[in-house]
Amino acid sequence: MSPLLPSRPVSDVVRVLFGREDIRRRIEELGRTITGDYEGRAPVLISVLKGGSVFLADLFRQIRLPVSIDYMSISRYGGATESLGRVRIVKDLDEDIGGRHVLIVEDVVDTGLTLSYLISVLESRHPASVEVCALLDKSARRITPLPLRYVGFDCPDVFVVGYGLDFQERFRNVPDILAVQDVAALAAEPDLLVPYLARAAPPPPPSDPPEDAEA
Ligand code: PRP
Repeated sequence: MSPLLPSRPVSDVVRVLFGREDIRRRIEELGRTITGDYEGRAPVLISVLKGGSVFLADLFRQIRLPVSIDYMSISRYGGATESLGRVRIVKDLDEDIGGRHVLIVEDVVDTGLTLSYLISVLESRHPASVEVCALLDKSARRITPLPLRYVGFDCPDVFVVGYGLDFQERFRNVPDILAVQDVAALAAEPDLLVPYLARAAPPPPPSDPPEDAEA
């Protein structure tokens, strides 16, 4: 048997939490709102690698302003709940953000520890403003209260994967956001999600026939 054939249906282990079409529509809305809010300005969008890069790529193409983009990578020590004060920058920004309007673009805000560290680092560089756009807000897990100016979706306290979010560094390229209902099953057999990668996008709606189609 191929190692890529799962031993149980993928629907036993994950369910679609936010489908690709819902994500696309919500990002269009966010892009419109951000375009209006930053009218006349040229914000710099900053993504935290790696997960946020997918959201950033889609979001910034929906913002009708002369934005620039930049990336940071940070590393945390210990478990997620121990990470406050134990973070270091692995890759810093290329741009000087002094006097700039900064919009941090995150895929998910969980405890808020990563973001609170990042905001304090960026604010020390004297930008004109710092705001946050998070695709998913897992507010039930927050340790550090944070002002999230833009939120894509409120997210329940479940393990999520897809659309930039990984499971053991895999499946960031799943086009939907999936809730993992049985993390132990997925850990035991990560290839369970492989068939999901092959799922075709839903077909586009039929286009109107040309006016002379029946002539
Ligand atoms: C995720 C996410 C945030 C962070 C949020 O990154 O992209 O940066 O966790 O968690 P917090 O609110 O509890 O601090 P992750 O560490 O999974 O790295 P990745 O983006 O490379 O997958």
